[in-house]
Amino acid sequence: MDLVCHSPKLVHRSSLTRHKQEIKESKDLTKIEQIYKDLVPTAPESKEVCKVTFPDGKIIELPILLGTLGPPMIDVRNLYGKSGYFTFDPGFTNTGSCVSQITYIDGEKGELLYRGYKIQDIAENCDFIETCYLLLYGELPSVEDKKKFDDEIKHEMLVHDKLISFYKGFQSGAHPMAILVGVVGALSSFMYDGLDIEDPIQREYAAIKLIAKMPMIAAISFRTAMGLPIIYPRNDLTYTENFLYMMFADPMDKDWQVDKLLADVLDKILILHADHEQNASTATVRIAGSSLANPFACIAAGIASLWGPMHGGANEAVLNMLDEIQIKENIPSTIDLIKDKKFRLMGFGHRVYKNFDPRAGIMRTLCHKVLKHIGSEDDQFLELSMELEKCALEDKYFVDRKLYPNVDYYSGIVLKAIGIPKDMFTVIFALARSIGWISQWREMISEKMIKIGRPRQLYVGQKERKFMNIADRKDNFKELTSIFKVKKGKKGFTIYNP
Ligand code: CMC
Repeated sequence: MDLVCHSPKLVHRSSLTRHKQEIKESKDLTKIEQIYKDLVPTAPESKEVCKVTFPDGKIIELPILLGTLGPPMIDVRNLYGKSGYFTFDPGFTNTGSCVSQITYIDGEKGELLYRGYKIQDIAENCDFIETCYLLLYGELPSVEDKKKFDDEIKHEMLVHDKLISFYKGFQSGAHPMAILVGVVGALSSFMYDGLDIEDPIQREYAAIKLIAKMPMIAAISFRTAMGLPIIYPRNDLTYTENFLYMMFADPMDKDWQVDKLLADVLDKILILHADHEQNASTATVRIAGSSLANPFACIAAGIASLWGPMHGGANEAVLNMLDEIQIKENIPSTIDLIKDKKFRLMGFGHRVYKNFDPRAGIMRTLCHKVLKHIGSEDDQFLELSMELEKCALEDKYFVDRKLYPNVDYYSGIVLKAIGIPKDMFTVIFALARSIGWISQWREMISEKMIKIGRPRQLYVGQKERKFMNIADRKDNFKELTSIFKVKKGKKGFTIYNP
């Protein structure tokens, strides 16, 4: 498909209104409409059914759906109507929630495809901007398309000056992820009036704005936490160089240079994290978006979901774990504690990958490359993590459960070696994943039959019972009253500690 970047006229527009105007005037409108149409996934027609027999002997037929890749799915959309039963699947371990044509994972083979291309090929031959283009538009850009897209992103990189005021409200030393959730949510107040998510052009505009502004938003989160002055992006730097520049540049040092190799490695890290089909944070963005909420508010919800140590917070947790293990001699006792379920081996295991995570292998190579570049090949964390990985992979507990290192096992070590502070690791994951989140949000909204996300539950609480007046109720919760902090009988004022 020849993807002209929607019209050269679109580059360097100054407002959404102008943008809409220009798109309307564009001669390429039909072509653009066709591109948008191709990006809308549709559920396939069912050619086969399966039969389900219920305890009362009733048999119903359910359609089977076949995608282009991956296991077939049983279409249970009409199950309740036909049978009076719901399905029970906490954590959606077996449940498809959407049709998508963005990313595919084969967990058994350890394969990850972005729009059909292997992650290894993308990581080796593309940069993050090309990856964003691919995820957003479905095709890799030509030289000209890439240039236009890159210009477009650069043009949108600066954040509104008012948004910067938000950072002043955070505690010094606040976790940058806490700041990120708040500030990205606040973006919705800058892009609310006039944002019509029914309009594909405006959805695209929102996507470009998000990708463009994330490096500056992420970098200011760090500089706020550190009490450092804000640095603004530069036109002569690439996307990833700009992020490193805004993170680390010293405004007093006019000769400050971005280390090209480290920027290149970080760019690969962004590619590896760009999308991962229906993971917790992406599913969160989709569910939030299914109510037709503002896209930036949906992305903030995704960031919140990503923060946890079971998901994107694992990269920070891996380094905390290695910090605690300290020396190789402590590995056997650590593994014993993990097998006793006292805690989990962070950076290990994955819901989908049951062979290996292809991103982890690339990450390990990047790790060696960075450590060699900075002259720390004997890095104690790398040695410790390699030994821990070896011990775990030889242990029956991990073998039986098919637990392998995931992308986060080595990413923390690479990021640390680049000089990224530990509490920024998940922020970088969020920066990278923003393209995945917004592409998935855009795909979902583009479908005409969007359904609000609304799971069912298996209720195991009280059946309906008779209401009791307060005077008749028993004093059931004496033990719990210790959590109420109000001191009874004390005279004078006490200082309330919020
Ligand atoms: N360490 C020790 N045991 C584990 C681990 C682990 N990292 N992961 C899973 N298990 C065990 C778990 O205790 C269970 O054992 P049993 O069958 O005896 O009850 C079994 O393996 C299956 O675990 P599960 O919780 O049902 O697996 P899941 O698919 O629901 O969880 C996971 C996937 C990634 C949340 C989990 O493997 C985990 O907590 N890993 C550590 C955190 C981590 O590295 N997260 C980053 C994931 S990759 C980046 C991303 O995409 O977010």
